Amino acid sequence: LVTRQNVYDDETFFQPYQAMRATRSGINEAVEQPAVRALLPPLLGVSAVDLGCGDGELCRELLAGGAASVMGVDPSAKMLDLARQRTDDERATYIQAFAEDVHLPPDSIDLVASSLAFHYIEDMATLLRHIAGWLRPGGTMVASMEHPIRTSAPDRRADDLYGVDDYAAEGRRDTSWYRDGVVKYHRRISTIVNTVLDAGLVIRRVDEPVPTEASRRERPDLERHVRRPALLVVAADKPR
Ligand SMILES: C[S@@+](CC[C@H](N)C(=O)[O-])C[C@H]1O[C@@H](n2cnc3c(N)ncnc32)[C@H](O)[C@@H]1O
Repeated sequence: LVTRQNVYDDETFFQPYQAMRATRSGINEAVEQPAVRALLPPLLGVSAVDLGCGDGELCRELLAGGAASVMGVDPSAKMLDLARQRTDDERATYIQAFAEDVHLPPDSIDLVASSLAFHYIEDMATLLRHIAGWLRPGGTMVASMEHPIRTSAPDRRADDLYGVDDYAAEGRRDTSWYRDGVVKYHRRISTIVNTVLDAGLVIRRVDEPVPTEASRRERPDLERHVRRPALLVVAADKPR
């Protein structure tokens, strides 16, 4: 049985999550966004999908870069409320759905982007096969996710730098993040890489981004992400 959780619609989670995002105290601006942006293809005229779009920040950037259309997908009504409030652009569409339930015509999309949502996906193999089907030949997927070093044993304290455990025991983790019972999925790096390849995509780049020098000077708390990785980012193309 596939379990899907919509924790971002739980007020006890949503409130502190939004407070973190509003104060930019997470790793989004300092680590995640620059790494994903660096791997995006040229945006002019592309049709794009953002899986787990949240408040639509990446969607708006894709539009600002000249995308012809952007579809943001997210299961959370609260996140999509923010996305709709913050996006004033006819080229944007927001759909309330889990990524696993999205169906799009084959060979219809130039770019599938996803920021920090893949670790919520139980069946990544099926999703990646869908993505490979939606992409036009030459199209690109860029996805960031929590690093397997982090997802292996999430209950270890965040400052425990030797917190890797149960690495080969892939699957569900019930974690505590603003509340108990936040469900994430752990996969080995090799599994992630091989699942992308098995879907028929060609990996162009893999990144384990670290905070920029400037952000480390401003925020000493980011130093721990230099000592052990927070994120894995994969860019892969559909063969022409
Ligand atoms: C960490 S937030 C990131 C939001 C946004 N991508 C960003 O970077 O600002 C993760 C998002 O993934 C969404 N999400 C969770 N499970 C999902 C699923 N199965 N399919 C699509 N999105 C999902 C959540 O509702 C949430 O908005």
